[in-house]
Amino acid sequence: MTQSILMVCLGNICRSPLAQGVFEARVREAGLSVFIDSAGTAGYHQGRPPDPRAIQVAAEWGIDISHQRARQLSAKDLQQFDQVYVMDQANQRAVEQLGNVKAAGRVELLMSLVKSAHDLPLEEVPDPYYGQLDDFRSVIEMLDQAARIWIDRQSRNLSE
Ligand code: 4NP
Repeated sequence: MTQSILMVCLGNICRSPLAQGVFEARVREAGLSVFIDSAGTAGYHQGRPPDPRAIQVAAEWGIDISHQRARQLSAKDLQQFDQVYVMDQANQRAVEQLGNVKAAGRVELLMSLVKSAHDLPLEEVPDPYYGQLDDFRSVIEMLDQAARIWIDRQSRNLSE
């Protein structure tokens, strides 16, 4: 059973904090106990709260992510988390360069959850950093789809 998930993007101020917030909310609603955290492959924003646009869009969904602080992914994370979900392929390559992922557990594109459930071609959560508020809104929508599919799978695994 998956007990911990690490969400990974580049800066840890846009996509992965939103992924963390959305997964935490859905996990809580489902009555499951899973630890969710997030990190960035780069350390540019270390210690900072999420981008104000991410905070705003999460708040529109009734989710508070303002307390989160950015941190850089470390090789130790790959040993500690049951599952690592990356937002795009560049994140995936960066994670693979960091450590022996095969030995350390599973690293997958988050949107592979949605792709396999709906047979969609989309496999990446696009980076909204240079975009507009609406780009953040489409990101949170995608993350919520992934979260619902993940919860569904997890609940099915539990009842088997
Ligand atoms: P994130 O977005 O990876 O979704 O947190 C970005 C945040 C910051 C930068 C790039 C992407 N940056 O270049 O500073």
